[in-house]
Amino acid sequence: MIRFTLNGTPHEVGEVSPTTTMLDYVRENLHMTGTKEGCAEGDCGACTVVRIVDGSFEAVNSCLMQIGQADGIEILTVEGLEAINGGALTPVQDAMATGGGTQCGFCTPGFIGALFALEQSGELSGDDASDDIIHDALAGNLCRCTGYRPIVEAARDACGKVVDYTPQPAIDRASEHTTRDQVFHAPQTLSELMRLRAAHPAAMMLAGGTDLGLSVSKDRQKPAVVILTAHVAELLEIEEADDALILGAAVSYTRALPFIDRLYPSFAEMMRRIGSRQIRNLGTIGGNIGNASPIGDTPPCLIALDATITLASTDGERELAIEDFFLDYRKTDLRPGEIISRIRIPKLTAAQSFRTYKVSKRYDQDISAVIGGYRLTLDGDTVTDARIAYGGMAATPKRAVAMEAALNGAAWSEETAAAAGLKAAQDFAPLTDHRATAEYRARVAVNLCTRLYRDLAGTETELEVVRV
Ligand SMILES: Cc1cc2nc3c(=O)[nH]c(=O)nc-3n(C[C@H](O)[C@H](O)[C@H](O)COP(=O)(O)OP(=O)(O)OC[C@H]3O[C@@H](n4cnc5c(N)ncnc54)[C@H](O)[C@@H]3O)c2cc1C
Ligand code: FES
Ligand code: FES
Repeated sequence: MIRFTLNGTPHEVGEVSPTTTMLDYVRENLHMTGTKEGCAEGDCGACTVVRIVDGSFEAVNSCLMQIGQADGIEILTVEGLEAINGGALTPVQDAMATGGGTQCGFCTPGFIGALFALEQSGELSGDDASDDIIHDALAGNLCRCTGYRPIVEAARDACGKVVDYTPQPAIDRASEHTTRDQVFHAPQTLSELMRLRAAHPAAMMLAGGTDLGLSVSKDRQKPAVVILTAHVAELLEIEEADDALILGAAVSYTRALPFIDRLYPSFAEMMRRIGSRQIRNLGTIGGNIGNASPIGDTPPCLIALDATITLASTDGERELAIEDFFLDYRKTDLRPGEIISRIRIPKLTAAQSFRTYKVSKRYDQDISAVIGGYRLTLDGDTVTDARIAYGGMAATPKRAVAMEAALNGAAWSEETAAAAGLKAAQDFAPLTDHRATAEYRARVAVNLCTRLYRDLAGTETELEVVRV
């Protein structure tokens, strides 16, 4: 039985498919139609609800989240906000209503969910209505008629007005939800996860569901067996060793970000552009690697950072350089029964610099046309070790070995960087698709090397389009 707290009240899900999306469940089963369906693929934010996990309020896309993922946690929909605020509109709702932040109203419940989670997070404290934080929190919500200015102003008006709501006590989670034709496993230990993986090699293995959720919401698939990794304690661990950051594969982007920010700031800056907050609250780095997309954003960075992954099964563990994991288009070295358990990212030494550049049509909420990750080790002006990897340039995320060879041992200058960039033609033969042409991708891969030089040199030249 799936049980969660819904709008402050304990809730038990009856005989309903555990892979039903939270959006369909609240709208069709509970007839709570405040939460809206726009795109059903995580892009528009109309379906945003708030989940409370370990006391943190997080906006999530209910169109991607399956109800099996909600077992034991707390969910707030727009219908519940007044109830948890003593019967009065919450400050965010009040500011949206009085400040003209809504017209047709279709997007409004989603904006309210995103803003309520932001206010409750305490990020906007006192008078600090930082536009950067507000824009970041709203990047996953689209409005086609009001315009964003009054919505941002509503966020500023509600700034610092946190609702005094104590999350309900955690509900015990079940490790299995069975219906007539589906079993949804939610193991809590790694050994149990590995046992289930060995027993059900064809099962859907779900982490945050931001990739796999589409197969349910869009393709209407109904997998017979699902194995959820998100409750496995070992996969949620974050460990900082002397020489490396070690992330459990089910750690969400949001939880990883403070660590990544401190150790690899450029990686964190890029990570804040992966999807939206709603996506980053659910999505995991393990899922980004497991999905093995040639345009996934973290693999090129992880390859450049010389990261390794641990693959675990009932037969034991093995550690693999992440670049060796990707064999061909969407083909990985994951063997039957194996799961990714950990990602180990070496820390940068004093002689090393890391940068990543994501090139996409929009700044926020867009998939890369090209992404480059660069780690340079310098001894004075000499490059002693260059590790460079690109996404969007081949069937897999891939190292740029000819570029690296052109840099290793060379004096670091804009000319050397530009000359190394030209080696992209030896390393890659990119494709044309709806995101970019092959020529564009090839040109970008070259030019990013010049950008790398200028960035590391601290040039005054503007390196990217910025909001003014
Ligand atoms: C609107 C939207 C925007 C997005 N924007 C971006 C973006 O900007 N950049 C980007 O890179 N991606 C983006 N994505 C894709 C997605 O969010 C990421 O790939 C995310 O990291 C997937 O993680 P997840 O936990 O949700 O994976 P899931 O969907 O749960 O799983 C993805 C795959 O990984 C496998 N997997 C999960 N965990 C493991 C494990 N421990 N071991 C082995 N295999 C595993 C699953 O079986 C599945 O095949 C976006 C998706 C959406 C819907
Ligand atoms: S319906 Fe568009 S993000 Fe969920
Ligand atoms: S108010 Fe109409 S879509 Fe936003």
